[in-house]
Amino acid sequence: MDTSATLWWDSHKDCLCYIEQTLLPGEYRIIECRDVDRLATAIRRLEIRGAPALGVAGAYGVALAARTSPHTDFSKVMTGVRQAAELLRSTRPTAINLGWGIDRVLKGLAAARTSDEVRTISLREAENIAAEDTACCHAIGGHGAALLPDRCTVLTHCNAGALACSSWGTALGVIRSAIEAGKDVKVFSCETRPLLQGARLTAWELARDGIDVTVITDSMAAHFMRAGAIDAVIVGADRITHDAVFNKIGTYTHAVTARYHKIPFYVAAPLSTFDAERNERDVVIEERAREEITIMGNRTYVTDSAKVKNPAFDATPMELVTAIITEKGVLRQPIDTRSHLSFCKSH
Ligand code: MRU
Repeated sequence: MDTSATLWWDSHKDCLCYIEQTLLPGEYRIIECRDVDRLATAIRRLEIRGAPALGVAGAYGVALAARTSPHTDFSKVMTGVRQAAELLRSTRPTAINLGWGIDRVLKGLAAARTSDEVRTISLREAENIAAEDTACCHAIGGHGAALLPDRCTVLTHCNAGALACSSWGTALGVIRSAIEAGKDVKVFSCETRPLLQGARLTAWELARDGIDVTVITDSMAAHFMRAGAIDAVIVGADRITHDAVFNKIGTYTHAVTARYHKIPFYVAAPLSTFDAERNERDVVIEERAREEITIMGNRTYVTDSAKVKNPAFDATPMELVTAIITEKGVLRQPIDTRSHLSFCKSH
């Protein structure tokens, strides 16, 4: 299967390369990013998106700041690195992986004593995070594949695939691993209004790998569940608190609908997505621009005098989640994220 990386460091060009996701599926373009402001814009515009990919991007962003610093003096390089870290952290508030990746590199830099060490340690740590992310996705895939019947149709929302991670994917990683294990898995991909990550990205990457994928609008999901066409729902996550799973807006609707139809609702996410000490009410849900809703192509579909709301994520209460699939194993009901995390850390 072709599951090439979504973002990576080009050591010859000394820059961060990534697939520009806003152009897909019409155009496959690799961007060479050489400055932190450009990276911050790329994250805000969703050129790079998806929680684990944001963690990797944040980590590479700190390395980029270190390697492009105009200073030689250690403390000046570190000041610039910390400013860049805060700029990157501020780009998107909901996916916890972004801050997690940034903080992990900053923590690694505590060992740096010279500006050269800042440059080498930051890049080494970012490379580790990228490699570990791919390994996590394969582990999640292995654990999740065992939950799927030998022949099934899975509904997914947004894009929790290779494009949302370093490679392979979380929710789509489960599907890829199940197929690799010989299972016959078909996918229904919800288009995911307003930015169409399901229609544009999930369908593209699954079709590229020869996986059977059908795109439906978000409002069709209940119809197909009622018709018996869906055996399981699998989604990714941007943050998992003690009591809720935050993921792309529309996920909660699928969870409620799946419960009504007695269909398992699985969440696939690495431990870096857990924020187990916090509760749903503590989390900021990103509110995005009005134009994402009102304009399609060249046309405006909503009168200027109407108000618009555009939250990018919603929270699914934990009681609606059948199981959370992590790289360390499957967390089943009654799900207690706090004790699960402490168990994982001690093993
Ligand atoms: O706004 P996006 O495209 O960054 O939202 C992405 C999602 O909601 C994904 O489902 C989530 O980050 C999990 S990706 C493995």
